[in-house]
Amino acid sequence: MTEGSSAIKPGVTGDIVTLKDHRSGKSFDFPVVDGSVGPSVVDVRKFYGDTGYFTYDPGYTSTGSCESKITYIDGDEGVLLYRGYPIEELAENSSFLEVCQLLLEGELPSAERKVAFETHITYHTMLHEQLQYFYRGFRRDAHPMAVMVGVAGALSAFYHDSTDIYDEKQRIIASHRLIAKMPTIAAWAYKYSTGQPFIYPRNDLSYAANFLHMTFATPCEEYDIHRSVARAMDRIFILHADHEQNASTSTVRLAGSSGANPFACIAAGIASLWGPAHGGANEAVLTMLGEIGTKDRVPEFVKRAKDKDDSFRLMGFGHRVYKNYDPRAAVLRQSCHEVLEELGVQHEPLLDLAMELERIALEDDYFVKRKLFPNVDFYSGIILRAMGFPTSMFTVLFAVARTVGWIAQWKEMIEDPQQKIGRPRQLYTGHVKRPYVPVEKRG
Ligand code: CMC
Repeated sequence: MTEGSSAIKPGVTGDIVTLKDHRSGKSFDFPVVDGSVGPSVVDVRKFYGDTGYFTYDPGYTSTGSCESKITYIDGDEGVLLYRGYPIEELAENSSFLEVCQLLLEGELPSAERKVAFETHITYHTMLHEQLQYFYRGFRRDAHPMAVMVGVAGALSAFYHDSTDIYDEKQRIIASHRLIAKMPTIAAWAYKYSTGQPFIYPRNDLSYAANFLHMTFATPCEEYDIHRSVARAMDRIFILHADHEQNASTSTVRLAGSSGANPFACIAAGIASLWGPAHGGANEAVLTMLGEIGTKDRVPEFVKRAKDKDDSFRLMGFGHRVYKNYDPRAAVLRQSCHEVLEELGVQHEPLLDLAMELERIALEDDYFVKRKLFPNVDFYSGIILRAMGFPTSMFTVLFAVARTVGWIAQWKEMIEDPQQKIGRPRQLYTGHVKRPYVPVEKRG
């Protein structure tokens, strides 16, 4: 895809797709709608009404669930654009808060708007003091993602003045609050698990540096924030900020389609992100690398990943949309070397192991044929571990970064005049109607 070249005028094209139903002998026409780039869609909203059939697409591999102007992915070419800007350029030149503004508002901000946004976010970073007691209800060994789901959902009980989804001002305040408070919620989930006191936000620090401070400082000792580590953290946040209609984003949209408040919707998104096939994969990558242990065992694990009778998969490999190198993984691969060098890590055996695994898998026919490339989670865990994060925090960091994507997509949906409650149908294969059998007559 070259810059601006393939931009088409989005909308109904006048073209049609005809379905011939051999059961009834009838034909049905469905309009084709173009986007600005990427595959066009067949508008099947009248499909059931016209034909009496439902479409069937488990996993939504062929279904466009909404119209969106936020993020574009070309999985074959390995392209990811936020509002049209390539992820590599944003990772190199922008900052996470600027990217947040881009995703939420649609354009890169002017210098003045940029400062105003940063100020809004900075002054919403504190949590309601009462929320501390909420944390204390969890076991100390609770997984921090469990704490994230609970505390993010609980925000709706604390910020009643920003839960009216039909009030534009409240929607904006809720968006700012979520972006601002998520690092505090995440850092406190970590502090709680270690038994250390909660550390309050510092408004003189950048978003990423403040998060590192709340996570690693103690009341007795400041955390010495390496500029390059804060920069790498910021870059990780940028790379994870949005990814169009993935499982957690679709969850947020579906939850929001019923009119649920934004805090509840984000809690639903966090729950969906937790799974190992989605955001939980970064944690699973390190567990897997630990299990492999040494380079000589890589072929054995690659063999297991290819064995259909073995449920083991190479974590951090493959993607529903990317059938090429995940552009986020390419940026992180580079960052990984830089951060380790900056932190003075001469030799990281896990990185060596990861690179060996990548080398062997990329040469293997099984992975080549299926276009299974390393994804964003393959390298992020190694950087995060070098920064001092325990593996249980990896998906939490993904949730902090993805909050802006979720909220931008939620806002777009609420403001879309075509929005309806999401209500898929099904192919029912259970019992047909049958009479109730009293317990004494059951076999
Ligand atoms: N290791 C071994 N085989 C794999 C892998 C893997 N990681 N991923 C896919 N395959 C095989 C799969 O067995 C299937 O083979 P066959 O055609 O012979 O049956 C083929 O590749 C297609 O796989 P699929 O499961 O139909 O693909 P999907 O689009 O439904 O799944 C995925 C995508 C990401 C869930 C999957 O690749 C996977 O489980 N990867 C490991 C987990 C992971 O790294 N997830 C992070 C995704 S990126 C971050 C995010 O967006 O959350």
